[in-house]
Amino acid sequence: MHRRRFIKRTFWGTLGTGLSLGAYTWQIEPFWLEFVKRKMPIKNLPDGLIGKTLMQISDIHIGNRFDYGYIIDSFKKARQFKPDFVAYTGDYVSYENEKQFAQLEEVLKHTVRGKIGTVGILGNHDYGKGWADQPVADQIALQLENAGIRPLKNAQIDLAGLHVTGLDDYWALNFAPGKAMAHHDKTKANLVLCHNPDVCDLHVWGGYKGWILSGHTHGGQCKPPFLAPPLLPVKNKKYASGEIDLQDGRMLYINRAVGHFWQVRFNVRPEITIFELQQA
Ligand SMILES: [Fe+2]
Repeated sequence: MHRRRFIKRTFWGTLGTGLSLGAYTWQIEPFWLEFVKRKMPIKNLPDGLIGKTLMQISDIHIGNRFDYGYIIDSFKKARQFKPDFVAYTGDYVSYENEKQFAQLEEVLKHTVRGKIGTVGILGNHDYGKGWADQPVADQIALQLENAGIRPLKNAQIDLAGLHVTGLDDYWALNFAPGKAMAHHDKTKANLVLCHNPDVCDLHVWGGYKGWILSGHTHGGQCKPPFLAPPLLPVKNKKYASGEIDLQDGRMLYINRAVGHFWQVRFNVRPEITIFELQQA
């Protein structure tokens, strides 16, 4: 009798735990945004930019896969920080069809903009099916521009003394890091935006020393405690999330994403990063 009761209790206990863990990974953690604060020491940073904040927002993935009201709410929260710079590091949509343009338009009404400047790069998902649909990428870049986000397509911009270079996506049609890095001047304060962190392992950097901000991995979305996330869309599995010293003067930061592709997260909360600029 005792044994039977024990088995019954264990069964219901295990089922209960499984169901609550499932509900947590599906309904709670994917929407439990964390604002992560970090220091960003930059060489040659002008005195006037010391202490200014740079917000990184990545992988919002607007589409039919989850309620993007969550992204609008996240933008509203982010705006309260009144960042000086905002950098978007790609994957604005989970593209299926033209509906995503209207959905993105709705979200971009709430765009977080920096007091000094707002820039963005495209990710693989912004190139539509097979990462190869140029008209989709053009439309998204146009919508970003209309929302006050300057798209950097293998280009550089000087924002009050901060020189931001934006690389186009590695897996998509216009990857040309040589062109992007050609104008990089070592004597200036530099920052590079690069959606896919695997690019860090390519010989395309031309001696660049400084920060690289990436997204793309979403931190793997699920991570067993003390172990690496099992599912990462990168070749170099070290590139999961957070700050990585590349040991050659480059510092990589991989943002865990605000949105998601699959609505599941465990031990990898969504993130918006706020960097405080310092002189290196
Ligand atoms: Fe993504």
